[in-house]
Amino acid sequence: WKIIHLEEVDSTNEYAKKIAGTSPEGTVVVAKRQSSGRGRKGRSWASPEGGLWMSVVLKPGKIDPRLAFVGALAVVDVLGDFGINSGIKWPNDVWVGGRKIAGILVEGRGSEYAVLGIGLNVNNPIPEELKESATSMMHHVGRGLPLEKVLERLLFHLGGWYRVYLERPDLLMAKVRERTFILGKTVRVVEEHSVITGRALDVLDDGSLLLEVGGELRRVIYGDVSIR
Ligand code: BTN
Repeated sequence: WKIIHLEEVDSTNEYAKKIAGTSPEGTVVVAKRQSSGRGRKGRSWASPEGGLWMSVVLKPGKIDPRLAFVGALAVVDVLGDFGINSGIKWPNDVWVGGRKIAGILVEGRGSEYAVLGIGLNVNNPIPEELKESATSMMHHVGRGLPLEKVLERLLFHLGGWYRVYLERPDLLMAKVRERTFILGKTVRVVEEHSVITGRALDVLDDGSLLLEVGGELRRVIYGDVSIR
């Protein structure tokens, strides 16, 4: 890894995309604060000091939505290292005890590069209006954690899962299924133009979610899931 530490930036994903063309695979951008952190679907991502806001440049040959699972599995493992039990909320959030602790945003340009952005709530305060839906590592461990140590563990697990993704994507997806806690549950999925309610049966090898809706099988490629 080649790590670039920044005090403040608009978004580590934006920064990483700017340098991706001329930077080697494994270049990591970490910022203490982001002034306009971004989430999926153009939403904003609150990024005050104390959280881990990072993006890594990858060059896997093609951009693939399954790269988000590399990030999600790595986060689940980091949390495990600190004694926190978590699961993947398809497609790319990590949740602890009914609350979101991390989000993942993969962006890229065709076959040239992919930027895998991870936002992990570590010591940052959770705003009052998000307390019902979001949590942090500090909240679960009961004390502040050294961010460098969390980053080091995250990069360790990212490296491992990225290798699995490249060499044995079937094993990556098997692990994703094991860690996805919505399987078997009735969920509501908000897609771009529609809302589907059904029972989540499986995460398929291409990363899509298989639902049973009134006796029929439906495949969902992307969407926001809530548990009914
Ligand atoms: C989501 O849950 O919608 C995804 C959130 C992704 C946030 C991270 S923080 C580091 C990187 N830089 C950004 O602007 N976003 C990602």
